[in-house]
Amino acid sequence: MVTAASSRSVPLKDQRETPAQSHWQVSSFQRKTIQKGKLMDFTSTVIIPLLFGSLGIFGLFRLLQWMRMRTYLQEAVVVITGATSGLGKECAKAFHAAGCKLVLCGRDGEKLKDVVQELSTMTNHRKNTHKPHTVVFDLSDTKTVLNAAEEILKYLGHVDILINNAGISFRGTVVDTGLDVDKKVMETNYFGPIALTKALLPSMIKRRQGHIVAISSVQGKISIPFRSAYAASKHATQAFFDCLRAEVEQYDIDVTVISPGYIQTNLSLNAVTADGSRYGVMDKNTAEGQTPAEVAQVVLSAVGQKKKEVLVAGLTPSLAVYLRNLFPSIFFTLMATRAKKERKAKDS
Ligand SMILES: NC(=O)c1ccc[n+]([C@@H]2O[C@H](COP(=O)([O-])OP(=O)(O)OC[C@H]3O[C@@H](n4cnc5c(N)ncnc54)[C@H](OP(=O)(O)O)[C@@H]3O)[C@@H](O)[C@H]2O)c1
Ligand SMILES: *[C@@H]1O[C@H](CO)[C@@H](O)[C@H](O)[C@H]1NC(C)=O
Repeated sequence: MVTAASSRSVPLKDQRETPAQSHWQVSSFQRKTIQKGKLMDFTSTVIIPLLFGSLGIFGLFRLLQWMRMRTYLQEAVVVITGATSGLGKECAKAFHAAGCKLVLCGRDGEKLKDVVQELSTMTNHRKNTHKPHTVVFDLSDTKTVLNAAEEILKYLGHVDILINNAGISFRGTVVDTGLDVDKKVMETNYFGPIALTKALLPSMIKRRQGHIVAISSVQGKISIPFRSAYAASKHATQAFFDCLRAEVEQYDIDVTVISPGYIQTNLSLNAVTADGSRYGVMDKNTAEGQTPAEVAQVVLSAVGQKKKEVLVAGLTPSLAVYLRNLFPSIFFTLMATRAKKERKAKDS
């Protein structure tokens, strides 16, 4: 009984399925053809116009953005500290080419003159560029900073954009470093720039217009061993300008903090060591970093677009910043390992 029932059910099932299957195959073929036609209709009437439309809108948006940036920078009075070398010098070239009225600052008047000379021979700029002014002062000497701010306001009337770029790096262990060295780094990288900022701020508030830029560092977000004074000064910079941004938004003043990773400049050569002497070594990471001209273009567009903050770094430093915030204990372990490794390499 069981066998008969099962043997009967098999052919019955087959008989039922065959016509149903062939019916399904025909209709599926038809359906596919119809679908294909509909899809092509859809592609030509919706997707392609949408694609070109959005590309057009994107292009238009970029064009408007570029035009707005151009008018923002043209004729703007831009003060750049540390304009004698590295990133500051490249920023001078980029903002000069954009038609800004520059005030170039540094400690060495001769070097500043050389930069002005170099700018005047630049050929890739537009017609309406301006000859830069130069102001010589030492950021670690507050009195000269205040005099410089006064001089700038006297000659140019106002400042549209202040770029706090000058800085000095540090190499050494905490235990061996004299407090005078910590203070020197802090004076140059933190107190000098904030003194200049505070001296120019009232006139910006009065005009309800202005833009303050701080060139910080990835080390304003994470701390690497043997860079204590530098990392501390950059963390302080980040904190100060974040507070400032919130306070001056009501006066339509913008604050941009830029945090580069390694840049190919003389920063490590010019770094101070534990005893205050010049480090004088070009670090491998610095030598393999981004070019100062590349970073200057990032600064130009970040300022032009009034960005609040920009991290200009590759994948590893960017990940390190996330690691520090999300998984601090992993970050601390990695830094301790790095410290041991560096100490061993130095001792051997
Ligand atoms: N290079 C990097 O890997 C890197 C990475 C992240 C952030 N940054 C930051 O980028 C900025 C520019 O540095 P850089 O790499 O271009 O180094 P750099 O080539 O050594 O230039 C430093 C500039 O700062 C000026 N400066 C130093 N001490 C000063 C003082 N006491 N008073 C006035 N000016 C002073 C120097 O001018 P004079 O010596 O002619 O006076 C020079 O123009 C710094 O804030 C630095 O922290 C650099
Ligand atoms: C580094 O210093 C040397 C000597 O002062 C100078 O010629 C060179 O232009 C500097 N490099 C950068 C990237 O500023």
